[in-house]
Amino acid sequence: MLVSNKSPRGSWTPEMVEKGGYPHFMLKEIHEQPKALKNALSLRPDICEQATGILNDSEEIYITGAGTSNHSGLAGRYMFTKLSTMKTQNIISSEFQELTGKILDDSYVVLAISQSGETLDTINAVKHAKRQGARVVSMTNVVDSTLSKISDYTIYTYAGPEYGLAATKTFLVQVACLALLSLHLSLMRGSLSNDEVNKLRNELFQTPLIVDKTIKRQDKVIRDIAYSYANKPSFLFLGRGISTATAMEGALKLKETAYVHAEAYPAGESKHGPIAIIEPGFPVIFVAPPDENYEKLVRNLSEVKTYQAKIISVVQENDSQVRGLSDDSISIPETEAIFTPITYVIPLQLFAYFVAFKRGYDPDRPRHLVKAITEP
Ligand code: F6R
Repeated sequence: MLVSNKSPRGSWTPEMVEKGGYPHFMLKEIHEQPKALKNALSLRPDICEQATGILNDSEEIYITGAGTSNHSGLAGRYMFTKLSTMKTQNIISSEFQELTGKILDDSYVVLAISQSGETLDTINAVKHAKRQGARVVSMTNVVDSTLSKISDYTIYTYAGPEYGLAATKTFLVQVACLALLSLHLSLMRGSLSNDEVNKLRNELFQTPLIVDKTIKRQDKVIRDIAYSYANKPSFLFLGRGISTATAMEGALKLKETAYVHAEAYPAGESKHGPIAIIEPGFPVIFVAPPDENYEKLVRNLSEVKTYQAKIISVVQENDSQVRGLSDDSISIPETEAIFTPITYVIPLQLFAYFVAFKRGYDPDRPRHLVKAITEP
């Protein structure tokens, strides 16, 4: 854990007390994630039941949100489709109106995700959906926010306040709540048996511990890797399946906190253009859990390696194949494949934080950005 400028309690300024001794809120909030995750996972069963009932009573679910909330929505889409066999789309809220036009009616449910509950694009998407008769379930961290007031049903994520501008713990709790909804929906729809759901639920409840271990064990490893890449002007983040959402979130964190160009793609798409950007030494970050996409990802990685990219990978602890092909690796304790966005995003958050720190930026106050975008 980096608390490099931690002072004895007696000489703390009020701001340092607020930050609990961490140099930045972003780092404090990354470290708060195991607790936030536990809170989110204790979502009351009756709330889960009611929200799932609305979701299940629909033709199709349209998940919408912006930025990080869009990335958790993308992870949610993978879960709803794969576990619950529910037709689901995920649409960035600023494009929602354009992409849904007049096709919505009361047979659709919109699941709107927003940490602040005040993001105008997401509020407008919800208003558009409601005008057409669609029902709206929202997920937000802020009680009595505008989003909660205009929704038919609201799930609160209870991550506690997030002061750092970059969303960290709120991404985790959103994905955790989506995972709970997806498990409930799978039971309701009969797409998974009781035993299968119980097994997955037990795995999901392991994630706070895995996140805690990862932060404690890998903090210094990640800092060293981040420092050695901090002068690189551009990064590519690749993942397959649900790890696409993790890769997208990692790239966003790096862009917004360290002002480094970063792009994320589903790894399969890399050969359709992005790979042309690779030259010797170009850093590519692979999100590589040992899931059903692993072998395909190894092929993508091997190809990138032929062009002498520098490869950083996030892998499971016992991994040898991807690790063997990588210049640097960060390992994560075994996590159920569908829940890996919760655990594999941790190194990417810390990587962005340390790159920003090394480049001399304040990750809590990135330029041009505010916490909630409430203007058009
Ligand atoms: C990323 C970030 C932004 C927000 C986006 C949506 O770290 O903070 O991309 O995720 O502006 O904000 P909410 O979730 O409040 O609607």
